Amino acid sequence: MPDGAVAPLGVALVGYGYWGPNLLRNYMELPGVTVRSVCDRRPEVLQKAQTRYPSVTVTVDLADVLADDDVDAVVIATPVRTHFPIAMAALEAGKHVFVEKPITDDSLHARRLVDLAADRSLVLMVGHTFVFSPPVRRVKELIDAGELGDIYFVTTQRVNLGLHQKDVSVIWDLATHDLSILYYWLDEAAETVVVTGRGCVTASIPDVAFVNLRFPSGVIALLDVAWLSPVKLRRTIVVGSDRMLLYDDTEAVEKVKIYDHGVDFKDPQTFGEFQLSYRTGDIVAPKIDMTEPLFSEASHFINCIETGERPITDGYAGLRVVASLESAERSLNNHGGARRITVPRMAVDAGDRA
Ligand SMILES: NC(=O)c1ccc[n+]([C@@H]2O[C@H](COP(=O)([O-])OP(=O)(O)OC[C@H]3O[C@@H](n4cnc5c(N)ncnc54)[C@H](O)[C@@H]3O)[C@@H](O)[C@H]2O)c1
Repeated sequence: MPDGAVAPLGVALVGYGYWGPNLLRNYMELPGVTVRSVCDRRPEVLQKAQTRYPSVTVTVDLADVLADDDVDAVVIATPVRTHFPIAMAALEAGKHVFVEKPITDDSLHARRLVDLAADRSLVLMVGHTFVFSPPVRRVKELIDAGELGDIYFVTTQRVNLGLHQKDVSVIWDLATHDLSILYYWLDEAAETVVVTGRGCVTASIPDVAFVNLRFPSGVIALLDVAWLSPVKLRRTIVVGSDRMLLYDDTEAVEKVKIYDHGVDFKDPQTFGEFQLSYRTGDIVAPKIDMTEPLFSEASHFINCIETGERPITDGYAGLRVVASLESAERSLNNHGGARRITVPRMAVDAGDRA
């Protein structure tokens, strides 16, 4: 390598099933990155990776990946139950870690990963992909700029005739996305959760759930998630004191629309006088860029490794989503009893991130 040149960052991918190929394609395109290896338990999928990307080494053994000194970072896209042991081994081997959502299936495990990464000064990032999607980013800018006023409430629908998972409920599969989006938008995690749901097709695995959240700021939210629905809906409504917003991810264009609608309460001048004025103004669809979320996500991970910046979706963001999912599941199993969401404390102080 010529003098002064910076060595490319070495990346390895673990898990080449449904999602792994999407991650690999994006890391292959990133400047300043060399994908050194792909690891999967199934030789037949490794064959496909090798044919597509002949420069990449393939292996069924994670130890090969971790023993490679030129691998700086490990990207994990294996089933959720395997995230913890693989991420732990990678951090212990001194590698930066990107792990798919949800970070783990247990908040105590997530906390151990967060603590270990902090202890070793390694980047730990979770694949809350929607946080990197342009419409979600745009809504965040609008909320932060005060365009909607004070946020009153949010409702979401994430339903379709979806693939029934064998081991996790619809809450872990789909509400993960809405929780990560909401926590990013609102800069806070919910404090209580009330869930009703049922397993319609398989009694033991809920395939529909209505997740009610209350946030410390007073914002309330209702997430409707289901694998049973005649149509695919990906709709979120945010109602603020000044404006309202619809984010529809199934729209090809105009995914976000801002409605200058509202109801104003006029202070009564005399006893018994009660006046509301209704406002239906313009509807505006802001221009939204088309960058692929996975490319932005991968770039952000690499940038955080290079600069030491904390990822937007760091391990702590993953932990608080998992803690919320656990409380949601407890509420569901308790016939909708209210549950507090308690995020396990860090051994290393997480600052003011909650
Ligand atoms: N961010 C998103 O929008 C998004 C979308 C889909 C899936 N995901 C996440 O990606 C992850 C993988 O999901 P998927 O649908 O690709 O699953 P999958 O079952 O299709 O693929 C997982 C792969 O991991 C391999 N594997 C399992 N255990 C392994 C081990 N110990 N070592 C090496 N390889 C191992 C399997 O052989 C398989 O090829 C999950 O965490 C899922 O939640 C994220």
